[in-house]
Amino acid sequence: MGWNSWNTFRCYDLTEQVVVQTAEAMVASSMKDAGYEYVVVDDCWQEGTRGEDGRLRAHRGRFPSGMAALGEQIHDLGLKFGLYASPGRRTCAMIYDRYPGIGLGSFSHEQLDADSMADWGVDYLKYDWCRANRGGTKLDEPAAFAHMAQAIQNTGRPMVYSISEYGRSKPWEWAPQVANLWRTTPDIGPSWRSVMRIADKQHGLAQFAGPGHWNDPDMLEVGNAGLSPTESRSHLMLWAMLAAPLMAGNDVRSMSAQTRDLLTDSQILSIAMDPAGRQGERTGRRGKLDFWRRELSDGFAVGVLNRARSARGLTTEDRDRLGDLTGAVDITSGEIGRFDLTLASHEMRIWRVRS
Ligand code: GAL
Repeated sequence: MGWNSWNTFRCYDLTEQVVVQTAEAMVASSMKDAGYEYVVVDDCWQEGTRGEDGRLRAHRGRFPSGMAALGEQIHDLGLKFGLYASPGRRTCAMIYDRYPGIGLGSFSHEQLDADSMADWGVDYLKYDWCRANRGGTKLDEPAAFAHMAQAIQNTGRPMVYSISEYGRSKPWEWAPQVANLWRTTPDIGPSWRSVMRIADKQHGLAQFAGPGHWNDPDMLEVGNAGLSPTESRSHLMLWAMLAAPLMAGNDVRSMSAQTRDLLTDSQILSIAMDPAGRQGERTGRRGKLDFWRRELSDGFAVGVLNRARSARGLTTEDRDRLGDLTGAVDITSGEIGRFDLTLASHEMRIWRVRS
């Protein structure tokens, strides 16, 4: 669990001030207490050229204090520090978003860059493909990600290793040996359509995840404009059922009390962070209703999501389809054993059954 800068701050809005203020707000808002731990600085933190020593360096205008100082400030708050890099010659910022001069890749500098990260106190590396083969580079995907895994290991500093190649080459089949988490889809966006598209693409992947190696359906859009409060809640619930890494992607400094309460909702988070680490999945559909189930260390959770543009009532057949729900607690209302519900448009409900 943590926070990542990309969904809100993109490129030119990313500054050391934003990162430090966010880390402080994570502490003040109780997000840290709820388990959000990693503060990940995504693309655009770099200068467009390496230093004379060949090392990556922080963008002088937006990160004047440098990465070691930033890492220290994050650590002083009791949080962990994450950074972004790419295996090709350029990061995505330079390739796709046309931010001139920003975004050097680690190609042929893998060990030096891993060493820099370790020197700066980095605890989490997001390594993002970004058309790494552009410009005549001939990289084999799994090998390129394994190369950096080895470079990290050589530093002797433990780091969470998060890889991102958008699910192109079925990373769930090879990445569990290499990385702690791997993206399964292209980028999420702040819309219900995007959340649904990504949730649907997780179908069939549950068997590949487990403690220490996770499918990553991408960072959260919870609290961002483009999702209603109901949609944000369903989005977080779905990611909880998916045992997904939870990386907040909102402006934590200015979030509403409602967003803070949602991100720190202990009922949802205790499902998300269940120690057994078994990913749940969609088990069925009726019309616009999706049915979900996740096995938990002390029982199981079932959920119903209403994808329709209007409200839908649950029928007795719907309840039967969810299995034996004796003693089931609706984690939204706290009510026990009640299913005669109507779900608002895009609303999700989860029931937890303890064995
Ligand atoms: C994309 C990646 C995003 C973000 C962006 C930065 O490739 O999927 O999560 O890191 O690059 O440019």
